[in-house]
Amino acid sequence: MAIKITLGNSKGGVGKTTTTCLLAISLAKHFNQRVLVVDFDAQADSTDFLMRTFGVQTDLTNHPSIFDAIKSPKHAAASVLPLDDNLHIIPSGEELSGLDLLLFEKGVFGKFEAGLYLDLVVQQIEHDYDFILFDVPPTSNIQNINAIVASDYYIGVMMTQAKSYRQMAGFLKESDKTATSARNSKYGYEGAKLLGILMYLENKKSNIDYTVISAAIETYGDAILYSRVYERERVKRYDLIPPNPNKFDQHDKKIFAMYDSLAHEILMRVGQLAETEPKLRIQQLLEQAADDLNQQEYDTLAEALDAAQFYRDEIVEERDFTSTQLATALRDLFRDTPTQKRRVVIHRIIDWLQTEQDLKSLVNSVNV
Ligand SMILES: Nc1ncnc2c1ncn2[C@@H]1O[C@H](COP(=O)(O)OP(=O)(O)OP(=O)(O)O)[C@@H](O)[C@H]1O
Ligand SMILES: [Mg+2]
Repeated sequence: MAIKITLGNSKGGVGKTTTTCLLAISLAKHFNQRVLVVDFDAQADSTDFLMRTFGVQTDLTNHPSIFDAIKSPKHAAASVLPLDDNLHIIPSGEELSGLDLLLFEKGVFGKFEAGLYLDLVVQQIEHDYDFILFDVPPTSNIQNINAIVASDYYIGVMMTQAKSYRQMAGFLKESDKTATSARNSKYGYEGAKLLGILMYLENKKSNIDYTVISAAIETYGDAILYSRVYERERVKRYDLIPPNPNKFDQHDKKIFAMYDSLAHEILMRVGQLAETEPKLRIQQLLEQAADDLNQQEYDTLAEALDAAQFYRDEIVEERDFTSTQLATALRDLFRDTPTQKRRVVIHRIIDWLQTEQDLKSLVNSVNV
């Protein structure tokens, strides 16, 4: 049985499609998972992006789409379009905007049963995959309901803007409502669960909006994923020139470090990957820091660095800091920190590891 995930937010343009596609590539190519992306948005952005990325030139006018699969779930397998060994897609197209009418004709419009169609499709094919990712449109509508009913988990994508904070609350509430209806229905669903909240940060160096992050951590606690998506020019450029997944250059590798980190964290959260041993470099850091810290500070540092290890060596390697600098800074940071504050600090260290900030800016940001 595949693990089925919806990435959502009730707002448009927060990077849902991009994150879904790059996460799918990461899971398939870097974690050897069999992945299916289901494009469930009439804009067909993930269909377009992934077909271009893998150089697949199939004429979609002759290929069944997700709309055809919904019309006839028995024939769902025919709608699957292979992109790469481990990565397939069910493409979408503008005919999907006729979904409401189709459900009306089937006599289920406005009823809970209208939300079961995507799941009927998925049931036909899920045995072939480890992961199925749904790309959904921004507005909350019947497509989102279908995706949540068919999912085991959902991930909220959140920008660091006050508005996005409210929209996240809306998305989580609606998803939970759908999952609860599914659980209470006669159809035997377990109901999708929140897997985590992904922060999407505009990368303005030291000007990252920590007010929103801190508020989000205050509200959602451990639901906030340690992995982050940062706004990067290279990702924007993928709209025009997609990455070559078989031949990443240095810039692509940096970009995929973000999405690999997300894939890694998801695999851990769904129990498919054991928590890994702290990396050697982190252990060395701890050994050196031990001289400089008391036991409590040391434990907190260990916890923070443990969290930070989601990030791949190369990011950490690039940082130009010495263990003494780090230890001194952290000793100040962790003095008498309650758990909630500590969480915020851990998140800040992680952001710091990923951005170009110097150590002083980390200290300043935490001292605010
Ligand atoms: N990490 C990133 N860095 C820079 N630009 C990004 C990043 N992720 C996405 N974008 C850009 O933001 C724009 C919107 O992204 P995307 O289409 O993924 O959002 P979406 O939430 O799926 O939108 P919609 O709600 O319309 O479906 C695109 O132009 C995309 O290239
Ligand atoms: Mg989209």
